Amino acid sequence: MSRICVVGGGGYVGLGYAVALADLGHDVVGLDIAADRVAALNRGESPLFEPGLTELLAANLAAGRLRFTVDYADAVPPADFVFLCTGTPSLADGEADLRQVRAAAAEVGAHLDPGRRTILVNKSTMPVGSAELVAGIVAEHAPADAEFRVVSNPEFLREGRVVHDILHPDRVVLGAEDPTAAEDVAALYAPLGAPVLITDHRSAEMIKYAANAFLATKISFINEVARLCEGLGADVKVVSEGLGLDPRIGPRFLHAGLGFGGSCFPKDVGALTRMADDAGMHPGLLRAVLEINGEARRRFVQRAHKLLGGLDNRVVAVWGLAFKEDTDDLRESPALAVIGMLQERGAHVRAHDPAAMANAAPRLPGVTLTDSAEEAAAGADALLLCTPWPQYRAVDLAQVASSMRGDLLLDGRNYLDSAAAAAAGLRYEGVGRGHLRADATPAGAARLPVAASHAAGRR
Ligand SMILES: NC(=O)c1ccc[n+]([C@@H]2O[C@H](COP(=O)([O-])OP(=O)(O)OC[C@H]3O[C@@H](n4cnc5c(N)ncnc54)[C@H](O)[C@@H]3O)[C@@H](O)[C@H]2O)c1
Repeated sequence: MSRICVVGGGGYVGLGYAVALADLGHDVVGLDIAADRVAALNRGESPLFEPGLTELLAANLAAGRLRFTVDYADAVPPADFVFLCTGTPSLADGEADLRQVRAAAAEVGAHLDPGRRTILVNKSTMPVGSAELVAGIVAEHAPADAEFRVVSNPEFLREGRVVHDILHPDRVVLGAEDPTAAEDVAALYAPLGAPVLITDHRSAEMIKYAANAFLATKISFINEVARLCEGLGADVKVVSEGLGLDPRIGPRFLHAGLGFGGSCFPKDVGALTRMADDAGMHPGLLRAVLEINGEARRRFVQRAHKLLGGLDNRVVAVWGLAFKEDTDDLRESPALAVIGMLQERGAHVRAHDPAAMANAAPRLPGVTLTDSAEEAAAGADALLLCTPWPQYRAVDLAQVASSMRGDLLLDGRNYLDSAAAAAAGLRYEGVGRGHLRADATPAGAARLPVAASHAAGRR
């Protein structure tokens, strides 16, 4: 078993790895500069909403394999491996902000134990070429006789599935100059049984950006198709199903709606675009992906504006604030962008989220945050679904309809049951559901029941 220090151990990736590596039997210290998070974690309280995390945290604290600190001098010297999991947010121009990474690398370097071989594992998503940068910063601050290696190990986990994805990775990508260092890191992952791809630093770093750019492209692609469906009277839900049944395409990331958000896709596509720009290339596809993503939110608000005959002084209920279900993360959440545009147009917003209310309160001045979805809808002229939390499917739409002032339900994720909404007396509008428009079927044409030929549960 190894001694492991996880830098950024209070964040999504760092905390996930700290508890997972401890659960695999290693001796783990999570290191974070956020003292309040560290104190909470040592008490067994997770600052993040992630299924399964609190249980694993408690079990491994109790087993004595895991603890948290703010002190590099305590955590780094005894470590065989130092996982770097600090944040790499976007700067205003899309470039990755490497300040957290630089600061952490300098501290790690300064605290390396001379005479011990330490492997630094880069988990943060960093622009191609950053492994050399990290190695340079560590070397600059390290004692002269410290021996260290850097291994690039990009992370592919999904928020809301952090623990699951770390313990069941579909691949482990390792980039290194020294193959023995990559093999040492691969050995940590061996119990998980995932395929391991060992390559050079830059290719490993690029795999992460390419993966996120591809998934973001799939989402923007289906949103472009949704726009066409709206104009041409087709139903993007069925089109998406028909596309997804092709094994070369697959059904995932083909849900039309408000587009992608979160801490990774927008920033990583932006950073890759910026890298291409800096290298004198023209990333036309990546630019279109970002443009379509922004447009999806603008069109949604424009639709609300049109259907309500203006937004000034309208009361609008928003269901879902997190950037997706099963997380409390609001970073780059489409819901927040939608709310900002609603407020700019004079709407009064009442909002609910099952997990993100505490994070939302300081970020949504002027928004009435309610304890329940029903409460948010009461008295509203329109109800907008922004995040597909399963809880919202269980809400009694008839009761909601009777408590609202208006009758508009705008489903930004095509998630609620349109027939049930109509039966409850709500005017249901989805995204890309041109077939639901009153004028969608050409005169005389027969309209088949939607998805009549698709057996449920085929996927
Ligand atoms: N969140 C995801 O779903 C996800 C998935 C894959 C990859 N990534 C990448 O992983 C990295 C981390 O993402 P995250 O979402 O966990 O970020 P996060 O903001 O949740 O966590 C970063 C943590 O680092 C700590 N920190 C900052 N500077 C520090 C320093 N100098 N020393 C010690 N700790 C410091 C912060 O206090 C914070 O707790 C990013 O590069 C991100 O792109 C994230």
